[in-house]
Amino acid sequence: MPIFLEPFSTKHITSEYCSYVLDPEVNKYSYRKFYNTSTKTIAEDAIKELNNSLLHKFAIILCGVKVHIGNISLVEYDAPIGCAELGILIFPPYWARGYGEKATRELLNFAFFEMKLNRVELGTYNPAALRMFHKAGFLLEGVRENKFPDGSLLLPEYLMGINRKHYQRGS
Ligand SMILES: CC(C)(COP(=O)(O)OP(=O)(O)OC[C@H]1O[C@@H](n2cnc3c(N)ncnc32)[C@H](O)[C@@H]1OP(=O)(O)O)[C@@H](O)C(=O)NCCC(=O)NCCS
Repeated sequence: MPIFLEPFSTKHITSEYCSYVLDPEVNKYSYRKFYNTSTKTIAEDAIKELNNSLLHKFAIILCGVKVHIGNISLVEYDAPIGCAELGILIFPPYWARGYGEKATRELLNFAFFEMKLNRVELGTYNPAALRMFHKAGFLLEGVRENKFPDGSLLLPEYLMGINRKHYQRGS
């Protein structure tokens, strides 16, 4: 089913959204699992984020049925050179159906053709995300080993990026 991106707003901050953000499966490869957060904190943080002009966050919506299935965002952490970091979360019931890849491509269209960014990059520990981002056009630019805050895990972090000129060449 096709998807579309809708600017993230308070209507998307539901109890379902908050519980997915805290879901252990979702956070298996995320630092979030080390933070003692609650659904209340998640909702408060999401509301605060709405005032961050450098964060461009979207709800991923299934066309037709209009169901909210995840979020995708860009943070302009180096605005003067047109560089932003991508983050994505698809709610688990919708995994492995191609929605992550579709949403990533939609966001890259926005990043390169509307925001006129030069580059989008990210780091992920999730092997599924590595494959998904690669299919959406990202290049693997490096791998570094990082320890999680409790020292228990030493995982490869995949560093990926895509430049506007490469995306225009047909990703
Ligand atoms: C990573 C994530 C966004 C992938 O979204 P998705 O909608 O399931 O991905 P897609 O269905 O578009 O998958 C595209 C490709 O990724 C790979 N993939 C997806 N899920 C996978 C899994 N569980 N295991 C291995 N590969 C997987 C597949 O190769 C797939 O292509 P294929 O079906 O042609 O083989 C989703 O699993 C998620 O939200 N995870 C938790 C949060 C996270 O890790 N975010 C990324 C960090 S920024």
